[in-house]
Amino acid sequence: MEIITTVSALQQFTKQQRQTGKRIGLVPTMGAIHRGHLSLVSASNEQCGETIVSIFVNPLQFGPGEDFNRYPRTLENDLELLQVAGVSAVFVPGTDEMYPAGFDTAVHIGGVTAPFEGAARPGHFDGVATVVLKLFLAAGADAAFFGQKDYQQVCVIKKMVGDLNVPVEIVMCPIIREEDGLAMSSRNRYLSGEERRKAVVLSQCLADAELMVAHYHVRSSSVICQMIQDKLQTAGLSADYVSIADPATLQEIEEIDTAAVLLLAARIGTTRLIDNTLLLYAT
Ligand code: PAJ
Repeated sequence: MEIITTVSALQQFTKQQRQTGKRIGLVPTMGAIHRGHLSLVSASNEQCGETIVSIFVNPLQFGPGEDFNRYPRTLENDLELLQVAGVSAVFVPGTDEMYPAGFDTAVHIGGVTAPFEGAARPGHFDGVATVVLKLFLAAGADAAFFGQKDYQQVCVIKKMVGDLNVPVEIVMCPIIREEDGLAMSSRNRYLSGEERRKAVVLSQCLADAELMVAHYHVRSSSVICQMIQDKLQTAGLSADYVSIADPATLQEIEEIDTAAVLLLAARIGTTRLIDNTLLLYAT
């Protein structure tokens, strides 16, 4: 497994791999690798001859007062996990490599960035889009793998790739969960023992909603969202948003009469967690 730290070395590496005719898969991460990240690596390994993982805690996508400084950095352990997972190369650039002095460009995507995470975290998706486009150009990948865990992020990246004709296939992979249902996240390690026990309510809310839609044929978004708001409050969590939206445009919908995505964000103590599920309802 190659460890690459500069954009030019990465471009060189992929140029060589490409000459062998192999399809190149990219898995962008911020490290603190867990089974969620590794599931993206497996998907890439299945679909591509070579998998490149990037590890970069991107300062541009953190707002003031967010957790950039305390974000877990576990490089040695990450590299061991990625080696075992069969990754060809890991790209670990420094901040100066990604944003050298004088860097003054940003990618802004409209529409899908406005609600939910975009509203709660101003500038977040500009930071994500900017770094991801840089990573796409540096890695020259044929396909890039993202988790449904960050559903809106996938929508944003798909929009960018469509609008800017970026020649990369975007593959969305399912959410990997802990045994009790909590979606795996690098941020779960911020939770105290008691907070961790409470956090299970997020995925329980999603399961309740799935049941309401599929089994009890509830179609009203507001009924479902209110049920979730109440459940989160009872569990002592503070909801940031609970919403049902069109899976492609992320515009909120009132009646679930076709496929829809339920998105939620809630705070447990100082930790903010997100989760979502696709509500498939066939009329
Ligand atoms: P990070 O939070 O490290 O996540 C990297 C990728 O892993 C994302 O595509 C995310 O959706 C996916 N992922 C995280 N938890 C997952 C889970 N439980 N199941 C499945 N996939 C999961 O997302 C980012 O980094 C950054 O914004 C990045 C795209 C790297 C840009 O900086």
